Amino acid sequence: MVDVPSIRAGQTWRSLPAKQQPQWPDPAALDAAVDSLTGSLPLVVPRECDLLKKRLAAVAQGEAFLVQGGDCAESLDAVNAMSISRSASTLQQLATVFGYMMSLPVVTVGRMAGQYAKPRSATTETRDGIELPAYRGDAVNGFAFTTAARTPDPHRMVRVYNASAATLNLVRAFGTGESASAGQALENIKKFAVDSPDRARHERLIAEIEEAGGFTGTDGWHTPGELFMSHEGLLLDYEAALTRADSDTGRAYATSGHLLWIGERTRQLDGAHVEYFSGISNPIAVKIGPTVDQDELLRLIERLDPRREPGRLTLVARMGAGKVRAVLPGLVERVTAEGLPVAWVSDPMHGNTISAPCGRKTRRFDDILDELSGFFEVVAGLGAHPGGVHLELTGDDVAECVGGGAGLGFEDLPGGYRSVCDPRLNREQSLDLAFRLADLVRARTFG
Ligand code: PEP
Ligand code: CO
Repeated sequence: MVDVPSIRAGQTWRSLPAKQQPQWPDPAALDAAVDSLTGSLPLVVPRECDLLKKRLAAVAQGEAFLVQGGDCAESLDAVNAMSISRSASTLQQLATVFGYMMSLPVVTVGRMAGQYAKPRSATTETRDGIELPAYRGDAVNGFAFTTAARTPDPHRMVRVYNASAATLNLVRAFGTGESASAGQALENIKKFAVDSPDRARHERLIAEIEEAGGFTGTDGWHTPGELFMSHEGLLLDYEAALTRADSDTGRAYATSGHLLWIGERTRQLDGAHVEYFSGISNPIAVKIGPTVDQDELLRLIERLDPRREPGRLTLVARMGAGKVRAVLPGLVERVTAEGLPVAWVSDPMHGNTISAPCGRKTRRFDDILDELSGFFEVVAGLGAHPGGVHLELTGDDVAECVGGGAGLGFEDLPGGYRSVCDPRLNREQSLDLAFRLADLVRARTFG
């Protein structure tokens, strides 16, 4: 039988303007890649997406906290089991600290197993007088500055699908093991605290967490090791080819990940991304930057969550440390006044990107912490629920953001920079951020 919802979700966006899509040079190669994906198995199933939606409904209702994080851009060349394990374990450690900080169960979501397509501010990049297409993520082209690498190749979408399947398999395997338990997360945090310059602060909090018996949730539904996967649903050829109808309900789901989000650059009300997202039943998120208008936000919520279903829509504010206290209050007030059941989450990364003297993109730890503090002040101050954090992080020992932890400086970046896109917090900086925020929140500075 013809499946109406999946056709709707899969196709109606095609007649609308889609920003940030590659110019695939070879239509036959695109058809072949799309056919291959269309005939591939789903990476996630509706039941899991519905479970995440239920978890996020608790976040929207003030009864849970979201910890979402991972790479800015995953890389096909840097596939590494230890690195995946360390990132997953860093997320579990953050979940332990944030769960204690909020006295709430935590929903843990990786920016993993699908985060391969990037929006860019310019369509080309010029070096030494040579102009080539911008790098758009490994799902589209290669990072190397050569004509061959930068030419969009649709077969990369098939490689990304396979890499995502393998990553997901590994994460699921790790998730069932001893290493994913709450107790293990606490042991890992302890090891970190011994080497930290902020040892006294951290040990005090760790002792408190231990005394509280770790934190696995008041109603027992938070399963340590439960880790959902998310990515920006940017590349519509890829997402549409992996959209499937649930055989029980007939509803369409993106099966490339549990949660997909719309980026700041592709959330136009009359654009293809909003149309595609309005047709899928997954839990979804949308990034909102400092230029968002209040009426525009209300219309966006109406398009993406017309049934006002808690857990369906998460708003990820990425305002910048200097703007969050000025811009966010009006938005939270309007949305709250309308009674819209969204979850509010802070991305303190993307509004705080600066250029280091070496030319690399970086972020200051103190700006990241300041935006997070501002987010808590504003949202809690208005009686709404500060529902979570969305971070670019890795469990690896990189030097991409400056400050925090061991106090990385600009001079450390050239030797320790691995990201092919935005700068990530390393494990030490991520934990340091969690401890510092926990101190601020528990000192009742907010609300
Ligand atoms: C990202 O999350 O890597 C990103 C590009 O974010 P934003 O859409 O908020 O700029
Ligand atoms: Co990024």
